[in-house]
Amino acid sequence: MTIEKRKIDHIRIIAEEDVSHDHNYWNDIEIVQKSMPEIDYDDIDLSIDLLGKKLSMPIIISSMTGGHPDTKKINENLAIAAAEKKIGMGVGSERAAIDNREVADTYSIITEYDVPLRIANIGAPQLIRQKKNALSDDDIKYAVDLVKADALAIHFNFVQEMAQPEGDRNSKGIMERLSLITKKYRVIAKETGAGFSRMDAMDFMKAGVAAIDTGGRSGTSFSAVEYHRGLESNNFQKARVGESFWNWGIPSPVSVMMCEGELPVIASGGIRNGLDVFKGLMLGASAAGLASQFLKAGMESSQEVIRLIDTIEAELRSAMFLTSSQSVNDIRKVRRIYTGRLLNWTEQI
Ligand SMILES: Cc1cc2nc3c(=O)[nH]c(=O)nc-3n(C[C@H](O)[C@H](O)[C@H](O)COP(=O)(O)O)c2cc1C
Repeated sequence: MTIEKRKIDHIRIIAEEDVSHDHNYWNDIEIVQKSMPEIDYDDIDLSIDLLGKKLSMPIIISSMTGGHPDTKKINENLAIAAAEKKIGMGVGSERAAIDNREVADTYSIITEYDVPLRIANIGAPQLIRQKKNALSDDDIKYAVDLVKADALAIHFNFVQEMAQPEGDRNSKGIMERLSLITKKYRVIAKETGAGFSRMDAMDFMKAGVAAIDTGGRSGTSFSAVEYHRGLESNNFQKARVGESFWNWGIPSPVSVMMCEGELPVIASGGIRNGLDVFKGLMLGASAAGLASQFLKAGMESSQEVIRLIDTIEAELRSAMFLTSSQSVNDIRKVRRIYTGRLLNWTEQI
């Protein structure tokens, strides 16, 4: 199976099937409101500085696509909107372009728009030898240059690799290579739905990464995607492992709590709206990333993506107003109540 085919399979399955984790832990956070806020709605300042770039609001379109000719339009729609609304944007794994330069334009299309924070993307397993050779330094430079990236996201997706009988299974040596790459680029260590722990965050600090994108459990489950791909291809093991590990991982809010501290954190995994963005910031994140929410809009048109960003902004502003938070930094002070399954996690970690 080619990478191009896999990429388009992911998009189709995520757009058509239910591939969410069984529980969205952002629902387990309630907020103590202020009935008489001390601020005016129009004075609320949503802007942030992240990785040396100014964004008009703390929102990032998470890494999703590129690699198949059909994905160029999606990346273009997302880039037009990200540039207009001045938010960050990542492209999907660039392995496809590294292997086949003919699909390079499905990624580089984002350089035609003035996106304030452009994020390149490669996989952590590819930093070392698997069945294929590790990415070379030149390959990595190519991926960064192709999208004129301000930062390089290196994604960790070992849960997904487990569900693929042919998946990458080596991990020894990734940290060592990562430590070399962080000397050259601003690196974001990024999970893809299973969440980082405190220990992971400390390792990343040591390795010199610039930010952590927590990518926890609460939204898209790549084990669920592999379950569907396994069913479609009559691959019993893939379907079964995908099903068993559907809900594997550290819940998104817990991962933010564990990772926040020294490095900027991007809260992600199951963020659906501006209220979830607010909750991520309340737990200490600097920004929030959304993937699947932007997928359908991106498949539609740039106007749909802009409409979605405007709505998320209105929700975030409303939550800030109702808690008397004038700026993004004020959000951290808001009182919150943890309930349900999230409370079990916070009591036992
Ligand atoms: C269609 C699709 C493709 C994705 N491809 C990538 C990828 O190539 N690289 C990556 O780091 N993450 C990828 N992701 C993971 C997202 O960036 C994000 O971490 C994850 O989906 C959780 O966010 P969500 O619950 O908002 O979807 C992809 C997600 C989706 C929905």
